[in-house]
Amino acid sequence: MPNVVIVGAQWGDEGKGKVVDRYGARASWVVRFQGGNNAGHTLVVDGRETILHLVPSGILHPDTRCAIGNGVVIDLRVLCDEITALKAQGVDPTNRLFVSYGAHLIMPYHRRLDLARERFRGVDKIGTTGRGIGPAYEDKIARRGVRIADLSDPERVRGLVEQRVAELNALLVANNDTKPYQRAEIDSLVQETVELGQELAPYFANVGEQLAKASRDGAQILFEGAQGVLLDIDHGTYPFVTSSNTVGSNAATGTGLGPQHLGRVVGITKAYTTRVGAGPFPTELHDALGEQLRENGREFGATTGRPRRCGWLDFVALRYAVRVAGIEQIVLTKLDVLSGLDQISICTGYEIDGERFTTYPDNAHDVARVTPVYEMMPGFADIRQARNIEDLPKNARAYVDRIAEELNVSLALLSVGPGRGEDIEIVDPFQS
Ligand code: IMP
Repeated sequence: MPNVVIVGAQWGDEGKGKVVDRYGARASWVVRFQGGNNAGHTLVVDGRETILHLVPSGILHPDTRCAIGNGVVIDLRVLCDEITALKAQGVDPTNRLFVSYGAHLIMPYHRRLDLARERFRGVDKIGTTGRGIGPAYEDKIARRGVRIADLSDPERVRGLVEQRVAELNALLVANNDTKPYQRAEIDSLVQETVELGQELAPYFANVGEQLAKASRDGAQILFEGAQGVLLDIDHGTYPFVTSSNTVGSNAATGTGLGPQHLGRVVGITKAYTTRVGAGPFPTELHDALGEQLRENGREFGATTGRPRRCGWLDFVALRYAVRVAGIEQIVLTKLDVLSGLDQISICTGYEIDGERFTTYPDNAHDVARVTPVYEMMPGFADIRQARNIEDLPKNARAYVDRIAEELNVSLALLSVGPGRGEDIEIVDPFQS
């Protein structure tokens, strides 16, 4: 049976948390491989809402083990708080949550630099989540980051922090942050990092080795992607992207396994499109319809609470996502949010300077210049009670069939409500 990689096929917030929750029950392991606490997964279980930013959502299944791979960037305070909150809800992650020694830390100065830069950029800002993601990945690539493995040696942590802060102070000043780090602040920062490291030490592990062993023993692994393909650092709408690779292939690099372990890539897409933060969004609706989608779909960020920009489904972007992320199956979420509309539009092509395209522009800057070309489909009434594909009204069925046909993928699951079980399962990606 294949392992499964879950990726967001749009700009994040596709409802991956609910899907991972469902498939996590069938997996022995759920593993995150990139991103950090810029992600936010809202899960509704028995009417109770749990928002997880860092810990894989599989943790809510008592028999599932969870890992945070080397490709993730970790804010120790957030990890600590999430574990405490889970314990308070009766979910004990001890011996079920494993954090890679190779993962890099998001330090408090990364958050500060992220925020200072965004303020300084003004109208040109990226609209980051302000969690320090970009600066933490910058330090990783520049070979000056602090990793989980360093935490066992307080002097090493101090050395790395002191070296970094010396340079960083100049950067903060250049970005109009008038309070460079002082000695006492550096000392308390190092102390807090080391103390958090001691508290979290029972969770630190050689994740790659554990996964390889689990795989040899026949375990099913679910790789949980964060953000979405269009936010990928290489393939997304650069520079309005996150700082990691969100495509399926990074599930190997970000966990320490070879690509033969990845199995099937399942792309999660909403039945419409949303985006938070700045950057091009061809099918964005700036009218009352956009507002209606935002209200009906409760489109407010799980991490930052920001209202999400809403628009129609975009086949050009989705075909591109299917290609670059290797998506073979699709989970279509929030189909119920479209209920009650007279007509539904789907973007089937782009026009630039009067010329029509059906493939994504080579130059990411051109995405901001396109005029979408739409095809109309008739709307449908309430579908929240549907549990089989046959239960769907004719027009809803036509809409989902159109998506599968256009993207040349099979449909694995349709989500028709936010709660556990409000779905129509078509195929099981672990089996098929
Ligand atoms: P960063 O990842 O905080 O650096 O933010 C970079 C861009 O990615 C911004 O446009 C964010 O809004 C977006 N982003 C980051 N994480 C998520 C997510 O989990 N969902 C949706 N957008 C995200």
